[in-house]
Amino acid sequence: MSEDDIARVVAAFGAAARRAKEAGFKIIEIYAAHGFLVHQFLSPIPNKRSDKWGGSVENRRRFAVEVARAVRANWPEAYPLAFRLSATDWLDGGIEVEETIETARALKGEGVDMIDCSTGGIGGKQRPHRMKIAQGFQVPFAAQVREKADIATMAVGFLWDAKHCEELLLAGKADMIALAREILDDPNWPLHAAQELSADEGHAMWPVESGWWLMKRERLLDKLGIR
Ligand SMILES: Cc1cc2nc3c(=O)[nH]c(=O)nc-3n(C[C@H](O)[C@H](O)[C@H](O)COP(=O)(O)O)c2cc1C
Repeated sequence: MSEDDIARVVAAFGAAARRAKEAGFKIIEIYAAHGFLVHQFLSPIPNKRSDKWGGSVENRRRFAVEVARAVRANWPEAYPLAFRLSATDWLDGGIEVEETIETARALKGEGVDMIDCSTGGIGGKQRPHRMKIAQGFQVPFAAQVREKADIATMAVGFLWDAKHCEELLLAGKADMIALAREILDDPNWPLHAAQELSADEGHAMWPVESGWWLMKRERLLDKLGIR
């Protein structure tokens, strides 16, 4: 990308934020992870530039910072702005969490409110051998960024159990939980989680059309001693 290309894309991020506001959105998350453009600037693996946009950490971070500034300038102060980062590339010579903590601090300085901590996505289709997938395997990154950069974080990836998610929040490892595939499996997951965590007396969180019936069924089952 030339300097003009970069300026055009940064401005386009700002314009997109303005349109998002006009369209009624209340939160923006910039996808700066998983090999998308902002990550390509951040990571020393694809970023081989020798100008002010590559090389040192400050230079590689410049594009993300400029994007954050452009978006924040076009996004109401009261509306949350999040960035999804790949906290580590899981590859030698790539981004490590210490660098991500610094990036989170820089983004916070631009008015970013939350870091969504994912990982990986650079280096081709093959999964890096350092990346060991397990339930909540990316949570430690959300916890570290939260603690060391003093910014709210979102935990994401291989999370599906409501009690486990609640424990993570209560333990201060993250401020929010993001789910993708579990929501495909069960679009009512948040409502079911509220039931499981005894946070929704009488199905009050449900749309009234279905909540009223579910509450009636629950009472009947209780009465019959089936539940
Ligand atoms: C329908 C769908 C589309 C997705 N699209 C992308 C994508 O375009 N790029 C990407 O990096 N990840 C994509 N993901 C991965 C998500 O970003 C998410 O981080 C990942 O699924 C881990 O969360 P989960 O275990 O709750 O599903 C997608 C996931 C789903 C379910």
